Amino acid sequence: MSVNVVQELMGLARKARVFASMPWVEGLTPECLGREGRFEIAKTGEQFERRHGIFHLSECGLSPLDHGGLYGDACFEGILVINGQVFLYREHLERWWQSAKKMSIAMPYPMEELGWWILKTIQEVGFSTQEKGYLRPVLTRGFGNLGINPAKCLAPTIYCIVSTIQLYPPEAYDRGIELSVARRTRRAGKDIVDPNIKSNNYLNNIFGLLETREKKTLETMMLTSDGFVAEATADNIFLIRKEEGWQENPARVHLFTPVPEYCLIGITRNLILDEARKAGYTIHEVKDLIAMDFVGQGKECFLTGTGCGLMPIVGVEGIPVGDGHPGEVTKILLQKIRNDMADPAYGISITANRAQFERYMNVR
Ligand SMILES: Cc1ncc(COP(=O)(O)O)c(C=O)c1O
Repeated sequence: MSVNVVQELMGLARKARVFASMPWVEGLTPECLGREGRFEIAKTGEQFERRHGIFHLSECGLSPLDHGGLYGDACFEGILVINGQVFLYREHLERWWQSAKKMSIAMPYPMEELGWWILKTIQEVGFSTQEKGYLRPVLTRGFGNLGINPAKCLAPTIYCIVSTIQLYPPEAYDRGIELSVARRTRRAGKDIVDPNIKSNNYLNNIFGLLETREKKTLETMMLTSDGFVAEATADNIFLIRKEEGWQENPARVHLFTPVPEYCLIGITRNLILDEARKAGYTIHEVKDLIAMDFVGQGKECFLTGTGCGLMPIVGVEGIPVGDGHPGEVTKILLQKIRNDMADPAYGISITANRAQFERYMNVR
């Protein structure tokens, strides 16, 4: 097992780079940002020197004093590179900025500037149009004295890993996957940590996975503290019920998903809601779904997320969803999002130049 993990990590590192940006503090900032010719001074207008550059993974480190690592005081995004484009790039950058704002972390760069640096990092890795890439931009409170007080930190650290990803095997999309349900670990609501801050605090979701690890399922359903379905540990969840005659009248397809108070407003969730609306389906964002709603005859269920796209669910806790195969509407929606991933209207080409990128960012 551990040999496989080493091989997998070596494979990941071979085709990866990281963009890193930190204040320069002699004796503290990781050395890669002190190497002549390897960094540039960022023009962010801050009252100290900020350096940034693009590095191999082994060159770059996070300061031991970084509050992202010490306390999870950070927010991030997960973005897909597919068919030669950064899929829904603007939407992800905007959500990252929103998370930062809700955490009162001031982004040191304008969105167009940082977005361009990330695109340059992608270009340095160089993906073919057949390859899937994954971006993991992270903004941390930065390094500061020990103690959780954010006021101890000088200024944010930013890094963005650009690498390859394979979350689910391709056959999983034809067969669908099973879900288990976390019984003891609950999805924290707005009164604890706002689910719509995509923060680096995933401990609760990790406990959900640990709790269900013996089931050997690939994802776990998380419930609210009241026992209603919230989402999965890293994906949103949807339920479909069809009335007789749905093929002639698409309004007879009913698509249910938990309200955003319970879950991350996933960018793939939004895309599916758009596609469902365009298809004429009836949409219900609801508070009171229970795990039992998802199983049994006539039901369909799927997950959405940047990593998985749309993944059919064919069983929950060993009980079949529908006939135990991906449902008809699920397959229609899966095809729609695959088409969107290949449509240049849904992202920016990885070979875009700066002018093209800025034009893309300014289309609203
Ligand atoms: C908790 C959680 N819910 C839902 C999602 C899906 O969101 P998106 O479609 O934006 O990737 C994620 C993805 O990271 C997540 O971590």
